[in-house]
Amino acid sequence: MTAMANRDILELARPELRSLIPYTPGRYEPGSVRLNANESPYRAPGDATARGLNRYPPPRPETLQKRLAEQYGVAPEELLVTRGSSEAIDVLIRAFCAARRDSVIVCPPTFDMYRLYAGIQGAELIEVPLLRADDPSKDFSLDTANVIAALNGRTKLVFICSPNNPTGISMDPEDVEAICRAARGQALVVIDEAYIEFSSDPDFEALRQRYGAVRLRTLSKFVSLAGVRCGALIAAPRLIEFLGNVLPPYTFPTPSIELVLKALSTDSLGVSRERITVLRRERARLAKALAKAPTIARVWPSDGNFLLVETSDSGLFTESARRSGILVRAFPSHTGLGNCVRITVGRPDQNDLLLAAVAATDSQATGKVRNNA
Ligand SMILES: Cc1ncc(COP(=O)(O)O)c(C=O)c1O
Repeated sequence: MTAMANRDILELARPELRSLIPYTPGRYEPGSVRLNANESPYRAPGDATARGLNRYPPPRPETLQKRLAEQYGVAPEELLVTRGSSEAIDVLIRAFCAARRDSVIVCPPTFDMYRLYAGIQGAELIEVPLLRADDPSKDFSLDTANVIAALNGRTKLVFICSPNNPTGISMDPEDVEAICRAARGQALVVIDEAYIEFSSDPDFEALRQRYGAVRLRTLSKFVSLAGVRCGALIAAPRLIEFLGNVLPPYTFPTPSIELVLKALSTDSLGVSRERITVLRRERARLAKALAKAPTIARVWPSDGNFLLVETSDSGLFTESARRSGILVRAFPSHTGLGNCVRITVGRPDQNDLLLAAVAATDSQATGKVRNNA
């Protein structure tokens, strides 16, 4: 156990990548005449960036890396900037899983990109479904014993999403810790904290430090920058350095760097925090109102910026919302989520519109009996 626990995490990575020789980027020295990168010497019309879009971005966005590390309370060498946390999921799977040999564990219903990236890489997907319970606060919890039982010599990654998408439920930290403890030295536990800013729970930094877990963050939700594609992978420096060699250089665009730095200014962060407060209040208001709707059988508690609801007929529900100009997400092919719909919490006026659409569905669906009475 101790020998396994002390095993260098990089031993789990694809051996051929461990000996990869990193790319050596051309030098960039502000103020010097840059004739070493085959760039255009002219700025494009309309280019309002500080660096100039005629120049390649830095090979790694180091200023942003430092600022994000400060934001998340970790050291810069513990953080890798990625194009959305989606790219962090991708690079982890590419770096650790050899096609047709290694596997990843996921706990559905959960974020579908883990499955997608595993499929693209040719890694086996082991699904250990979340546990169901009548008590909504215990529903969709981790099946810890079966996750641990599923670990085998070829399992490289275990994805845990908390708060989970699409259920909205946060995982019990004791369950997550039990999995981290069991996986230590055998597989990397990846804790996806995409929605953590909407929750009152602390992040999983303590488990990262204790067990070498990996944390994923994103700026797509909290600071309203889904279009900028910025995420972060937080892990031990050795792992960050290794993954940094697997990610190609120059991929993080200059406008994204400059926009994220602006969004992380004290004033902008203040606005983002106020909006989180509004969205959490709206989440509670929506949950309460939706729970009273005859066509909604169940509303799960949520720590995310969305609510999962069980409707009496998800097709009817989504169609009625669409007629009111609102798009919501149904899961017709997901086991256990057949009539469920995920509703993102919008601005108060948008939520009013949604509630009006639900009221219209209710009147259409007369004759259908509410099944959670
Ligand atoms: C749980 C979870 N993780 C990661 C992501 C990816 O976010 P992004 O790539 O925008 O950072 C999402 C997006 O919805 C998500 O729901």
